[in-house]
Amino acid sequence: HGDPRIKAISDAIRVVPHFPKPGIMFQDITTLLLDQKAFKYTVDIFVDRYKEKKISVVAGVEARGFIFGPPIALAIGAKFVPLRKPRKLPGEVISEAYVLEYGTDCLEMHVGAVQAGESVLIVDDLVATGGTLSAAIRLLGKELEVHCSSSSTIILDQINNIYIFEHVFLERVGADVVECACVIGLPQVKGNWTLNGVPLYVLVEPR
Ligand code: PRP
Repeated sequence: HGDPRIKAISDAIRVVPHFPKPGIMFQDITTLLLDQKAFKYTVDIFVDRYKEKKISVVAGVEARGFIFGPPIALAIGAKFVPLRKPRKLPGEVISEAYVLEYGTDCLEMHVGAVQAGESVLIVDDLVATGGTLSAAIRLLGKELEVHCSSSSTIILDQINNIYIFEHVFLERVGADVVECACVIGLPQVKGNWTLNGVPLYVLVEPR
């Protein structure tokens, strides 16, 4: 990026050392939200990138994807779908678990919120290991095992077990996940990084 807005965005993010535990440099986007210019730059850059991409769904990851996702969705003419932590949504849900440093967590989405074949943008504030975004991609995407190699596809073909295929598609939305967009990402994920084959677009590195 030779874009001067990127520096303004980076400068507006506060770093809180040793939060929530020793050794973690917490990237606090609440200070970015206080800076009206920097917040608007952030939304504008994403909107410019996605407005012509025929995206019909912006899916935001709880909690901070709920801050950046809706203004992007409104500006590009898409609906907003929250991907929530467990037991928050009142309706029927589909779930996707992911591994954390200690234990697991889960993202849930209302059944019927997104139709198969819709084009989806996934939004969150920050990508670290990519575990959370990978779960979001699995939840919305087309395949059970998105890292599915050609050899495992061949095994499925040899088994030719229709139950497996039915299971795969029943557990997935079957949407087309166009990209994941995050404000902050580690240097090794910046550039042309992909998560389960889905491109990842990141504005700034952690400070
Ligand atoms: C943070 C962040 C991302 C996720 C990234 O959320 O907002 O959602 O971690 O980490 P990963 O790439 O290693 O999966 P957190 O788990 O703190 O949840 P919260 O937003 O509900 O506080």
